Amino acid sequence: MRVSLLGPPGSGKGTQSEVLRDRLRVPHISSGDLLRDAVARGTELGRAAKGYMDRGELVPDQLVLGMIRERLRNTDCGTGWLLDGFPRTLAQAEALDRLLTEEGRGGVEHVVSLHVPREDVVVRLGGRRTCGGCGRLYHVRFQPPKTEGVCDACGGRLSIRRDDEEATIRSRLDVYDRQTAPLLDYYRGRGLLREIDGTTAPAEVSGRILATLDGHG
Ligand code: AP5
Repeated sequence: MRVSLLGPPGSGKGTQSEVLRDRLRVPHISSGDLLRDAVARGTELGRAAKGYMDRGELVPDQLVLGMIRERLRNTDCGTGWLLDGFPRTLAQAEALDRLLTEEGRGGVEHVVSLHVPREDVVVRLGGRRTCGGCGRLYHVRFQPPKTEGVCDACGGRLSIRRDDEEATIRSRLDVYDRQTAPLLDYYRGRGLLREIDGTTAPAEVSGRILATLDGHG
């Protein structure tokens, strides 16, 4: 299955991807994780992307497209993929369509859009903690680890993401409204958009997504 997960920062894309990749048996490809990994490794891409990410702006399309093109060529993508946070602009969506056509691959089948009000995501991101070892996500209030600061799954140390400072969160939300929200119409027009209420507990949101994907067989 070929699915793209859209939604504002903090709407739960990463949290839902942890469940969906296992249920759908496809690789989880997060453009944000790939970029953060490039920054951590100090690659040319990482050095170019870092300033944009720290300011909460989008990394230029050409850089992100090259990275995604390379990732989708990986053999694990043969049976499909779950894209998290990509595409994020109209230009990226059109380039993805062209890329999949040129390479003779099937196109995007479902675009799941998570809806969560702005003030809720500010609270979610303010309390987010991420495991430095396995990447598992927590929230100090909504999904706390058993031991404060320590990952339940691998014992890794939990940390706060650099771009989760309140002013940066608000700029990321503005960027989403301006540059990503127009994609909803793009995919709605193609009959691919699956709109999901993302405000309830994570397991309920997963249930709604899976039921919707099932319903669109
Ligand atoms: P990216 O890493 O994609 O970040 P984002 O889109 O801002 O989304 P987040 O990862 O912050 O949130 P999420 O929706 O995954 O929520 P999560 O599950 O973590 O991008 C980062 C940066 O990289 C961008 O700003 C940009 O610079 C660059 N970038 C990435 N892709 C790009 C692209 N395509 N083009 C250009 N630039 C790009 O949940 C958040 C918190 O809420 C967690 O603590 C979680 O435990 C909690 N939570 C989750 N679900 C629930 C729930 N149902 N109820 C209560 N709490 C919940």
